[in-house]
Amino acid sequence: MRKELPVNQIITGDSARVLQLFPSRSVHLIVTSPPYNAARSYTHEFNANVFHLEKILIESWRVLMDGGVMVIVVGDTTVAGSETGLPSQIETFIRCVLHMNLHDSMIFEKNSAAHRSSNRYQQVFEFMYIFSKNGKPRTVHLIKDHPIKNENKKSWGKRTSRQTDGTLIETVRKTNNNTHDIRRNIFKYNVGGCGVASSFKNVKNHPASFPDALAENHIYTWSNRGDIVLDPFSGSGTTCAMAKKHGRKYIGIDISAEYCELSQDRINHTVQIEPDDDQKN
Ligand SMILES: C[S@@+](CC[C@H](N)C(=O)[O-])C[C@H]1O[C@@H](n2cnc3c(N)ncnc32)[C@H](O)[C@@H]1O
Repeated sequence: MRKELPVNQIITGDSARVLQLFPSRSVHLIVTSPPYNAARSYTHEFNANVFHLEKILIESWRVLMDGGVMVIVVGDTTVAGSETGLPSQIETFIRCVLHMNLHDSMIFEKNSAAHRSSNRYQQVFEFMYIFSKNGKPRTVHLIKDHPIKNENKKSWGKRTSRQTDGTLIETVRKTNNNTHDIRRNIFKYNVGGCGVASSFKNVKNHPASFPDALAENHIYTWSNRGDIVLDPFSGSGTTCAMAKKHGRKYIGIDISAEYCELSQDRINHTVQIEPDDDQKN
């Protein structure tokens, strides 16, 4: 039986099974965030025994095309006084078992801490691991919105660099007249009081959505219009709604029928923007 890709659909089911029906090397980009076992209680019955993260990662890798990018957004949680180490376990599995290229380890910084503790520093970040399959990413559109300060611009003209024999030489570089440079790899987002950063109000009914702008920034950077974007843990549908907004095709899978209904409603209310507006969010 020929495997077909169900584009522009939100599918209710266990991704470990649903992804098996997808053809290999058919998806351009994956932007996802797996459940962080102890941190949230979802509406459905959830326990580690029925959750096959490794199977889902293997299937996600299989359906990704060569040069395709997988963005994994994952934070850590503290259980019985110790962090679980889940982000580093996931990163090691994808790099060492699936042999994907770790293109960049990025940070999603939040403007406020989710939980406060009296004996450790305020926890305000999650990892955003950028992996590419079989070589470097096929598509990269870097966002250039890091302001270049005037004093930096002046010093760009001359530069000293040390040679292998220890001597210093002065080199002259062309003056940079740009006002903005490539963004740094810590992306900061304002998350509201209940951790939600979306213009769609019902997103608050999901306990662990990531910001609209986070999904938009990665979709813009690692894919082109018309590409297929997958989220195997689609939750409130952030990745899928933002893929539609930016003229990409989407596929979302979540085990909860309630979250799939929320995602579909959100997608129905999402309007596609013009290509010129892709970088504005
Ligand atoms: C961290 S949330 C994702 C949130 C999403 N990024 C958003 O912005 O709304 C993880 C999601 O994985 C779903 N999930 C858990 N196990 C699953 C499985 N085996 N297959 C598909 N989805 C699953 C949960 O229902 C939850 O909605």
